[in-house]
Amino acid sequence: MPFDNTTAIVTGGAQGLGLAITEALAERGTKVAIFDLATDQLASEVARMRNQGATVNGYAVDVSDRNQVRAAVEQVRAELGPVLILVNNAGVEQFGKFTEITDEQWDQVMAVNLRGPFICTQEVLPDMLSAAWGRIVNISSSSAQGGQSRMAAYVSSKAGVIGFTKALALELGPKGITVNTIPPGMVVTPMLEKAIDEGRFTASLEHFAKITPVRRAGRPEDIANAAIFLCQDESSYVTGQIIGVNGGRRT
Ligand SMILES: NC(=O)c1ccc[n+]([C@@H]2O[C@H](COP(=O)([O-])OP(=O)(O)OC[C@H]3O[C@@H](n4cnc5c(N)ncnc54)[C@H](O)[C@@H]3O)[C@@H](O)[C@H]2O)c1
Repeated sequence: MPFDNTTAIVTGGAQGLGLAITEALAERGTKVAIFDLATDQLASEVARMRNQGATVNGYAVDVSDRNQVRAAVEQVRAELGPVLILVNNAGVEQFGKFTEITDEQWDQVMAVNLRGPFICTQEVLPDMLSAAWGRIVNISSSSAQGGQSRMAAYVSSKAGVIGFTKALALELGPKGITVNTIPPGMVVTPMLEKAIDEGRFTASLEHFAKITPVRRAGRPEDIANAAIFLCQDESSYVTGQIIGVNGGRRT
């Protein structure tokens, strides 16, 4: 199954890691549907990529909402064809002392970060089952491997993504569908820049670069390259894996 002319959905692709993954797929001729809430940003990035010749459509979707996801997946099928690659990337952070996390904050993080991948995967799965081929890449977080204080809800949701990946890989392996997860380390994106600007981390980006074995922060392309590896036809024997992309920190 070549990348060329295959259809992918990338959630949260209006910026950051999802945007880099979208561009990497589109460069290889994949038709990409982006599901995102940030409609202005989505429209401008889609227009920019289309101007460069990519086949990319944007859909205003909240990944935690079953009805919205179902309707959008149907639209993608009609406009771009059956969906054989799914990158569950959309995510939200939540910072704060454990004792101060509210039920609403906990539920919101779980809804986007964990129910989102569950819903999106269920909705696209019939296409992959019909083709007896599929690639699912779930973006988790290195914080689920090493822990992160003041991020209990986020870390729990991302640990859930790792478990989700492992369970699904066993169930879908016999169907020709691989399921893997990339837990990024510190990668410079709007999400990370905002967290640093708001003083959410005790150390600077420079400090994190210094304590990272390869001595730099991650770039969105680092994650996109790993996603491309996992989505290629040749990676059919790689499933249920946690592919850390973290410069050697928290492996
Ligand atoms: N940047 C990092 O260092 C880092 C590290 C570990 C994990 N991650 C994970 O990688 C993924 C991408 O992170 P990023 O840094 O690019 O973040 P980002 O905030 O820059 O981009 C996330 C995108 O997801 C979209 N989104 C948020 N909620 C959504 C929803 N309910 N439905 C649809 N779209 C929604 C946002 O509008 C945004 O465009 C996230 O899951 C994040 O948790 C990032």
